[in-house]
Amino acid sequence: MILVEGGQPLTGTVEASGAKNAALPAIIAALLTDRPVLIRRTPQLVDVETAVALVQSLGKKVERTGDTVAISERTCLSPAPPREIVSRMRASFLALGPLLARLGEASVPLPGGCAIGARPVDLHLKGLAALGAEVEIGEGMVHARARELRGTTVQLDFPSVGATEQLLLAGALAHGETVVMNPAREPEVQDLGRLLSAMGAPVRWAADRVSVFGQQRLDGAAHTVIPDRIETGTYLIVGAITRGTVRVVRTDPSLQTALSSALTAAGAAVKEGTDWIEVSSPGGMQAVDVKTAPHPGFPTDLQPPWVALMSTASGKSLVTETVFEARFHHVPELARLGARLRVEGRTIVVEGPAGLRGAPVRASDIRAGAALLAASLAAQGCTELAGEELLQRGYDTFVDKLAALGARIWQREENSND
Ligand code: UD1
Repeated sequence: MILVEGGQPLTGTVEASGAKNAALPAIIAALLTDRPVLIRRTPQLVDVETAVALVQSLGKKVERTGDTVAISERTCLSPAPPREIVSRMRASFLALGPLLARLGEASVPLPGGCAIGARPVDLHLKGLAALGAEVEIGEGMVHARARELRGTTVQLDFPSVGATEQLLLAGALAHGETVVMNPAREPEVQDLGRLLSAMGAPVRWAADRVSVFGQQRLDGAAHTVIPDRIETGTYLIVGAITRGTVRVVRTDPSLQTALSSALTAAGAAVKEGTDWIEVSSPGGMQAVDVKTAPHPGFPTDLQPPWVALMSTASGKSLVTETVFEARFHHVPELARLGARLRVEGRTIVVEGPAGLRGAPVRASDIRAGAALLAASLAAQGCTELAGEELLQRGYDTFVDKLAALGARIWQREENSND
């Protein structure tokens, strides 16, 4: 349980951690080689521990020193990760492509739906089949087999982050060139491309495509993951919603353009330098409509915290979710804190400003948790936030980082008296 006593402007500086969504595929990419892979700036997150457990379960040795994870080969690789690990985190499904490419076969449990939508993997599987894999689904498992993967051109119906990463990973050990048309261009996908290039499989981006030149064997590499733009954006929203001034350092402001334009339009002052960005919002804020979209559009992962911010802004705002069909579970929980909002189709209609008040609430997914945390920091009185293990999946040491900005926030073990 997280306890927050809100209503204070947060002020100060916070350091960004490495990006969760870049660290996870980077750790999984180590399955492509028997050489050592070093991943620097990995955040301390439950999801990173899950990715580490996944590659360990498949035969890798992992040593962590500070924020560096060193991955080497311990035994021969297994083609079948345990269901128990894969079910903890959807990104584990990315192991399918590397295992298939390296071993010629892989059996990975299907990731189920989750609180934000059905999240199918049809684009991953169609793409791997186009590279020559025989793919069968049975008893909740995907079995894939291929004597050799052969590079080809794959057209994605939607620029899926996971499917683009899956195809780059598999294509890195395929014969010839794999081209993904309409790829996801999220910075984390580009970061994976840099790692694969460093491992010896050059990844090239063009206006409408990304390609990887497959190799027979890949080398080891040392890679530093990019700063977490979703964590950075969440702290900027926390600064704005508490009408404070928050500077995020060791980050990349060029990855925040959609959020910083929305914050500026809402009346906040946004300043940036080469590796920092600061929001300052002393006065009231105005309603601004946003629509989520693949990068460089407004990130779906910042939609829930943005809705929290809009509940404190003057006027009616429309927040439209175009990436996930069911990312609305934060709406009734924000209403418990006093927000006035409703879902109409794929749009959240927010009527502001609402006077937020503390209440018991529960996070349903990582970013819904971030929205509730942001709202609780702006709310008068005490909020009890349950489901904090979800926040620990995505936000490195968030209690300490928020406390350093002046938040009154505590973590309480269930059933403890302290
Ligand atoms: C990744 C991110 C997640 C982010 C999302 C969108 C990681 C670990 N997670 O998730 O934080 O919210 O990108 O930016 O990087 N889809 C299909 N078929 C497929 C694959 C996807 O229909 O085979 C649909 C999904 O259901 C969803 C949409 O495409 O509606 C976007 O999904 P995708 O981009 O694949 O997101 P993830 O990789 O799961």
